[in-house]
Amino acid sequence: MTRIDKDLKQAKELLLAGQLVAIPTETVYGLAANALDEKAVLNIFKVKNRPTFDPLIVHTHSFECLQDFVTEIPEKAQLLAEKLMPGALTLLLPKKSNIPDLVTSGLPNVAIRIPKHPLTLQLLQSLPFPLAAPSANPFGYISPTTAQHVADQLGDKIPYILDGGTCNIGLESTIIGFEGNEATVFRKGGVSIEAIEAIIGKVQIQAHSSSNPQAPGMLKSHYAPKTPFYLGNIDELLTKYLLQHPENQAIKIGLLNFIELKNYKHLTHNFTQEILSQKADFSEAAHNLFAAMRRLDDLQLDVIFAELLPEQDLGRAINDRLRRAAV
Ligand code: TXA
Ligand code: MG
Repeated sequence: MTRIDKDLKQAKELLLAGQLVAIPTETVYGLAANALDEKAVLNIFKVKNRPTFDPLIVHTHSFECLQDFVTEIPEKAQLLAEKLMPGALTLLLPKKSNIPDLVTSGLPNVAIRIPKHPLTLQLLQSLPFPLAAPSANPFGYISPTTAQHVADQLGDKIPYILDGGTCNIGLESTIIGFEGNEATVFRKGGVSIEAIEAIIGKVQIQAHSSSNPQAPGMLKSHYAPKTPFYLGNIDELLTKYLLQHPENQAIKIGLLNFIELKNYKHLTHNFTQEILSQKADFSEAAHNLFAAMRRLDDLQLDVIFAELLPEQDLGRAINDRLRRAAV
């Protein structure tokens, strides 16, 4: 069985021995191993049940250290790094040969970031190698934002979970790549597009595709709960669903709302509601999103209905996750 604790020494020893350790970051928990050790990295793919064509993010503790693993840093990447690292930003940069091809799935760029979590920064500083770490969930499921979330799903498969509390941001990092003078966001995440554009001007945003593995984190069905999950106007979704199930008063319904409790006129059934932010705060909603989705998913409900947030600030990244969770 896995142990959950705050013991940095224990985490370090296991990682030095080529084992996997779940680590806290400000975005979501990661499933970490020595990024320079192919055998350890292969084990990450196995434990997550992740296809090896989906590359991993490399984590380092400083910009100086990051430079050991990339051959080039375009000016826009440099500007972003100065303002947003450590933080919820991942840069796609041309890799040096010290990064195994397995980490990048054979791609020429490595995804690299400096997480902003005191425990994990300390851990990275104490290690002689960077850590490859995808989110610590089974492939395709909702990312973990507490140590317990990790234990619930990977507990029997990994020896140690470093407990750094609840993730502050609660959404994965924003992934950005560079070509010529253009910057493209490949995954919306914990740093908003607005914050990025305030530093480097207009960026492209890559739409997601269901099949192209070269487009990072872009597999359409991802972050998906087990319960059927529908997205849209909740009143309309409810009306339609209840018309399709006229006899069944025993249906159990989950509602995922951004703000206040709405009075759903059709709803005479039992329902459970999660509200992401009573005060309509995007950061608070992001912080609560994955835990709320998990709570609903754990209730053996028949169906979950969710509504989109306004397309601004972290609302955009939250909507991206909701769309990919939806059937
Ligand atoms: O916040 C985060 O980014 C968390 C924490 C643990 O750091 N990590 C995370 O990792 O979300 P993961 O593996 O769940 O998502 C990383 C995404 C993947 O979808 C992958 O396709 C993309 O990053 N990616 C990784 N390396 C890439 C590369 N070399 N080129 C293009 N995309 C890459
Ligand atoms: Mg993931």
